[in-house]
Parts: sequence; C-alpha cells; structure tokens
Amino acid sequence: MPASKRTYHSLVQRARKALRHSHAPFSGFRVGAALLANNGRIYHGCNIENSSYGLTICAERTAIFRAISDGVHKFQAIAIVSDEGGFTSPCGACRQVLSDLAGNIDVILADHRGQMKVFKMKNLLPHPFTPENLRKRS
Ligand code: THU
Repeated sequence: MPASKRTYHSLVQRARKALRHSHAPFSGFRVGAALLANNGRIYHGCNIENSSYGLTICAERTAIFRAISDGVHKFQAIAIVSDEGGFTSPCGACRQVLSDLAGNIDVILADHRGQMKVFKMKNLLPHPFTPENLRKRS
C-alpha cells in the first residue's frame, strides 16, 4: 500500500532531525536522510565527512547501511533534506546503492519550506547495474 502524504511529512521531519548530527566540517553542507522500511521502522542517517575527503559517506548511505546491518532489507521510501534550503537530490553513488539494496522506492526531496518532490528511484537511475548482471556471468 502506498504511504500517505502525512507519513512522508513525518519522514521528512525525521530526516531534519538526523541532519542535526551531520559531521560536515569541510563542506559545511549538512544532509539528513530517513529511510522507511516495510516493517514500519525508520532508519535515519547524516553525512559524515573525513579529513581524507574520499572517505566521506553521504546521509542516504549511512541510513541504508544502518538498516541492512540491523537485518532489514525491504523498504518503501527515503526522505532527504539539507540545510542549503532547496531540494537536495541524491548523488550518483547513493542512487546506485539505494537502487541495488532498496529497489524502486519513493525518493522524497524536501526544501526548507516543507515543499516535497517525490520521485521513483527507477526515474532517478534508469537502466541500473543490478545483482542480476552478476548472475548472468558465463
Ligand atoms: N552529500 C550527501 O550526504 N548526500 C548527497 O546525496 C549529496 C552529498 C554530502 C556529502 C558531503 O558531505 C557533502 O554533502 C558535500 O558534498
């Protein structure tokens, strides 16, 4: 059953709360994400930067890795916010990871006024590389 608009608003609120824990001393760009699992649980995450910049992890991947490490594998939606004000779209690496591990979930972007845009992951990452590709190896 598709989640209601109210559910998505509360998911955005959880992403905003997660943003407060963002560790972004290098970019100053704080991001929060909240991932809704099919069992109703919400896994939040923030971006965590590193002085070796490439080791930085985005909020979306923090959230999904927390869920997977909790044994949860079925998801409905993820909300993403940043303190930049506008809509923050997931980076390419996060699109791949979310598509691979969560499938065609709803991706909810919210700006600082609470406006929401909802996308299907399939539309954000068309023609993805998937575990199926590895199964087809000869
Ligand atoms: N960032 C995210 O957390 N998620 C995204 O989808 C885009 C980028 C973070 C990574 C880095 O800490 C900061 O934003 C600037 O790129």
